[in-house]
Amino acid sequence: MKILLATQKPFAAAAVEGIRKIAGDAGHELLLLEKYESQDDLVKAVSDADAMIVRSDKVTKEVVEAAGKLKIVVRAGAGYDNIDLAACTEHGVVAMNTPGQNSNAVAELAIALMIYMSRTQFTPSTGMEIQGKTLGIQAFGNVGRLVGSKAEALGMKVKALDPFLPDDAIRAGGAEPVDSLEALYRSCDFVSIHIPATPQTIGSIGYELVSSMPKGATLVNTARKEVIDEAGLMKALEERQDLKYVTDVAPDNLATMQEKFGLRVFATPKKMGAQTAEANVNAGLAAARQIVDFFATGNTKFQLNK
Ligand code: 3PG
Repeated sequence: MKILLATQKPFAAAAVEGIRKIAGDAGHELLLLEKYESQDDLVKAVSDADAMIVRSDKVTKEVVEAAGKLKIVVRAGAGYDNIDLAACTEHGVVAMNTPGQNSNAVAELAIALMIYMSRTQFTPSTGMEIQGKTLGIQAFGNVGRLVGSKAEALGMKVKALDPFLPDDAIRAGGAEPVDSLEALYRSCDFVSIHIPATPQTIGSIGYELVSSMPKGATLVNTARKEVIDEAGLMKALEERQDLKYVTDVAPDNLATMQEKFGLRVFATPKKMGAQTAEANVNAGLAAARQIVDFFATGNTKFQLNK
């Protein structure tokens, strides 16, 4: 079988070699499409593929339709808002992700961004320590739990909200459960967002929530830019000179925000939460193993479009 590894943002070389070895050992061939410039490149490359591994690459209806032989696509990572699941289902393509495999990298970045903002983007202005402050975690999944345990080790008080988890599970993960989004934002010096982009969450964090945060609070987004209502966020930042926003996913209005809010806003130049050698290897190799196993045994454990 031909396995296409299509990554606009390439994996570390060690991950690519590991994927090649897993594919080769199982008798499959690896096709590589890295740093491609347009969707057309992906549409062309996929025509010959039986399987595909992607990151945030857009697996649209057009891509799926162009992939006549495709049986499985694995998103090497957690969020799968880049995959048209309905198109996959319609064309009999199994779609999977690799949950948990890159979580530590994202969690470490969330902590780094909190400290970066607290220390005024490493300028000489007087900063603030995170020890003793309260961190609210919005969704206590693989990344959220890791952010919580790291923050606790740094002396923060950790609260969490997760509509899919009972309070006991949140307590067992080391955080204090809160019963509403409003309570989370109102009571936390930092809120770290770990929700997926879905029709329910898109644009769900805006003026009301952000402007309810305590004095000097910081909103940290290592999830998806789409979950933020940017106009509402900007209004809150305009009204409250003490609030900050830091993100791993550049907002649409980044230039305006930087001009208006200076050091109170920071976005990484390119989404880099999962961009560590370890996360690349963990997620990439897991994706390759899932494909090999799927062809060998029919295992669909991580299937998203069941
Ligand atoms: C994920 O959903 O796994 C993360 O956002 C990482 O995405 P990336 O593979 O595009 O860096």
